[in-house]
Amino acid sequence: MSAPVAAIDHRAVLARHGTEVPRYTSYPTAPHFAAGAGPALWAELCAGLDPQTPVSVYLHIPFCDRLCWFCGCHTKQTRRYDPVEAYVGSLVQEIAAFRARLGFSPRLGALHLGGGSPSFLAAGDMARLSEALHGAFRFTPDAEISVEIDPSDVTPQALAGLRALELTRASIGVQDFSPEVQAAINRPQSFEETRDVIDELRASGCVTINVDVLYGLPLQTPERLDATVEKVVDLQPERIALFGYAHVPHVKKHQTMIRDEDLPGPAARLSDAARAARSLTGAGFEPVGIDHFARHGDRLARAARAGTLRRNFQGYTADPHGTLIGFGASAISRFPGGHVQNIVPTGLYREAVASGRPAALRGYRLTPDDAIRGHMIERLMCDFAIDLDALASRFGKAAEPHVRQALRLAASDADGLARVSGRRFFVPPEARPLTRIVASWFDAHLEAGTARYSNAV
Ligand SMILES: C[S@@+](CC[C@H](N)C(=O)[O-])C[C@H]1O[C@@H](n2cnc3c(N)ncnc32)[C@H](O)[C@@H]1O
Ligand code: SF4
Repeated sequence: MSAPVAAIDHRAVLARHGTEVPRYTSYPTAPHFAAGAGPALWAELCAGLDPQTPVSVYLHIPFCDRLCWFCGCHTKQTRRYDPVEAYVGSLVQEIAAFRARLGFSPRLGALHLGGGSPSFLAAGDMARLSEALHGAFRFTPDAEISVEIDPSDVTPQALAGLRALELTRASIGVQDFSPEVQAAINRPQSFEETRDVIDELRASGCVTINVDVLYGLPLQTPERLDATVEKVVDLQPERIALFGYAHVPHVKKHQTMIRDEDLPGPAARLSDAARAARSLTGAGFEPVGIDHFARHGDRLARAARAGTLRRNFQGYTADPHGTLIGFGASAISRFPGGHVQNIVPTGLYREAVASGRPAALRGYRLTPDDAIRGHMIERLMCDFAIDLDALASRFGKAAEPHVRQALRLAASDADGLARVSGRRFFVPPEARPLTRIVASWFDAHLEAGTARYSNAV
């Protein structure tokens, strides 16, 4: 067992290891996918699917009726609805082409609509998507159906569309309730309208509510964050995601509307995240992974306790499926053998689908070494630990250098970020906010790339 280490100097560690680290929603991360490799890889990986193994499905809706200045998602603001309607037509075509290529209808165990704001879709378009999906897939009886919802979109028509989809989980964006922060991020949203939307969704049969909160926002004082957390707890969601605001104005031009001098520094981010986490656990939520909190009986909390939590392009999930099929512009698919990302600009995506070509553009075929490293990084991000014996029995002799690397890293780590007890490599509780840094030690692609990432905390 490595020597016990006293309190961790998080600021010194961040200064030494660099502050930009991937969020590890995949391994390798998307900047390492090769341009042009998508179509052939997509065809090959699809050919490996079988009719009986359920898959997860993701649909990307890259439209919003407002533009929040903090937003890091692949989306655009539109004042007219006709481009959205046309885009839904392309999604329907892409789903049908996928079904035709396979020659069978795979089982669907989980469906997630993200964006952007899928809640912005007209009820008729939601129905068209539902029909296309039911035409191409066989939904399992317990399929989880989730949608990202901007509460400002939720009209009676939108609710009708969500009901038709048989929504089981809604993910509601809150970010921060204080008017000063909302003005600085261009996102007015009252507590009352959020509460009313949650009540309406519950009345429509939606059983699980997730709320997204951000720390690290401009003008977000500790008091404002604390007040937001308290109000979010009052909404009684089953899950809360507490994300650190990723400020990447070099990638997302509209984030330049946020003034650097209004942003909390790394020390304030760390203490804000820790305080908010304490308030949420004090209110009875269990921590799940690096940034989620869930009620004891919730599926995500159960998966975290059982060691079956997974991490995919949408973040943490309890869904066990090894394959995620992504439809829509910029959507990423994950297969046991590799990752494929669709064309990002919506116009080019629509052209590809209209001409009958696969929308896949970039891709990455996993090597045996990637599979081992990806598994280690996923377990660290989900369990804060790697069971070295389980690694060896899963991957055999090929895991041996990785086991040795883990033991070496823990022995040489003077910062107290990682330790070994028996055959368990783990991130101790006080270092958990820095788990992405520990995960990056196992990333063989990180040094090679020129990609820039968001803050490590
Ligand atoms: C697709 S978005 C939002 C769903 C919906 N459009 C809304 O705004 O309510 C999903 C979540 O990503 C998070 N998010 C967006 N931009 C982010 C950023 N720059 N850094 C960290 N989290 C971000 C927000 O918490 C947001 O609720
Ligand atoms: S946060 Fe949501 S509503 Fe705001 S721009 Fe991003 S996706 Fe659209």
